[in-house]
Amino acid sequence: MTGNSLNHASLLAPEWLAVPADLNALQDPLWAAGVARNDAGELAIDGIPVSELQRQFGTPLFVMSENDFRTRARAFSDAFNDAFADICGGVDVYYAGKSFLCTAVVRWVEEEGLRLDTASGGELAVAHRAGIPGADVALHGNNKSDGEIHRALDMKLGRIVVDSLAELERVARIAATRGETAKVMLRLTPGVHAHTHEFIATAHEDQKFGLSMAGDSTDVAGLSAAEEAVAAAAGFESIELLGLHCHIGSQIFEPDGFALAAEKLLRFLAAMQEKYSIVMPELDLGGGYGIAYTPVDTPRPPAEIAQAMAAVVRSTCAELGITAPRISIEPGRAIVGSTTFTLYEVGTLKTVRVDVPGPDESAENVTHPRRYVSVDGGMSDNARPVLYDADYSAILASRTSEAAPQLSRVVGKHCESGDIVVRDVYLPEDVAAGDLLAVPGTGAYCWALSSNYNYLARPGVVAVRDGSARLIVRGETEQDLLNRDMGV
Ligand code: LLP
Repeated sequence: MTGNSLNHASLLAPEWLAVPADLNALQDPLWAAGVARNDAGELAIDGIPVSELQRQFGTPLFVMSENDFRTRARAFSDAFNDAFADICGGVDVYYAGKSFLCTAVVRWVEEEGLRLDTASGGELAVAHRAGIPGADVALHGNNKSDGEIHRALDMKLGRIVVDSLAELERVARIAATRGETAKVMLRLTPGVHAHTHEFIATAHEDQKFGLSMAGDSTDVAGLSAAEEAVAAAAGFESIELLGLHCHIGSQIFEPDGFALAAEKLLRFLAAMQEKYSIVMPELDLGGGYGIAYTPVDTPRPPAEIAQAMAAVVRSTCAELGITAPRISIEPGRAIVGSTTFTLYEVGTLKTVRVDVPGPDESAENVTHPRRYVSVDGGMSDNARPVLYDADYSAILASRTSEAAPQLSRVVGKHCESGDIVVRDVYLPEDVAAGDLLAVPGTGAYCWALSSNYNYLARPGVVAVRDGSARLIVRGETEQDLLNRDMGV
């Protein structure tokens, strides 16, 4: 057996990757609503063909559906508000701006009734420019500068999520010198860490974020860092302690980890309220809800996760005999991830032959082809495959093809052999230079993590709404690349 087998499956393909029944079909649930092939077979969004987007805006290009963003934002908000209505009157949903942020997105977030989670002074600057009320904004960060804390107070933020005892003292001092009160939540590490399909519960989290809930984690005998911070916060006049926060990981599919973290935090919250005679009216359960990057990813609908979390909050509060705190969450990826695809133009193609063991152990090695399809971007516009071994999918976007499927690796144009955009995907055999490829699921942590490696200009972001496309972030020009070079 050489080349493609009868059913075109390649021995080089990972086990999870099936040969699609129809290479031209858009596989659910990878694509934003409004993305479909038009009558000519070309990929289009809200009726705008990708060739038209390339003509107007160039490639690579992030193409985002504004309607899809708004729908997903509302879906999260509705699902959680419904599930928690009878427990705490609803949920405050903070869109995690680190996943993708620009002023247009802040406005959509606000218009859809969500709030905004930021993680730096720069993200606060975007929020400020967009004009969102500070009361609807949260600031995170494990190493906030004094400048960032001042900015948060200048903007009268609804919450500063404090990450350490030292930071709590700094926030208290800065607020006191300004004659103000800072609204604070404490970020705790509940010892629950989740990633995609599993979660693990460990006694202590070995990571940089947050205040440990494990006992004896401070100099004060028997006290955890979390408790020491609660006690300190309760004593500062310049601090209004709103409550507790946790974030257990990213790209999580199962609700169990969120539910366990909620239970742990509620037990701790109840114990602290009693011991220190305080009330903490809020509990934030962070983000991390997973999306589909390939057809084998199976994210749960928001309602299912919301109901599982609500069940635990309801029963734990009843058992503890406490009034449920107001719940908030911070989804980023689950709102923006699937709203966007990246459009690339194909350049150089090359096929290599790779020896692999035969299908059964006695068989001799067989040679299988792997085709490298180079596109005009790469790790500078999507670092996730390199950083996290993340898998993506891709389709031929500029036309349909009846050619046979061929196992392909979509790679970028950087001087690095690890510069992979899609590690394994079946594309039609006749893909050629000048074709356009679309990679779905690139809304979160792609533009946000983009770089100028090899002096590539970072792509722009186009938002499509009701049949018209506009740049919400322009792509960089060569001049932008040269601007900061002082030339001395
Ligand atoms: N809240 C906090 C405190 C967070 O640290 C994060 C993400 C979120 C919310 C939003 O998480 P999401 O719902 O988007 O998963 N660059 C990585 C992900 C890093 C996540 C950092 N924190 C990636 O591309 O997979």
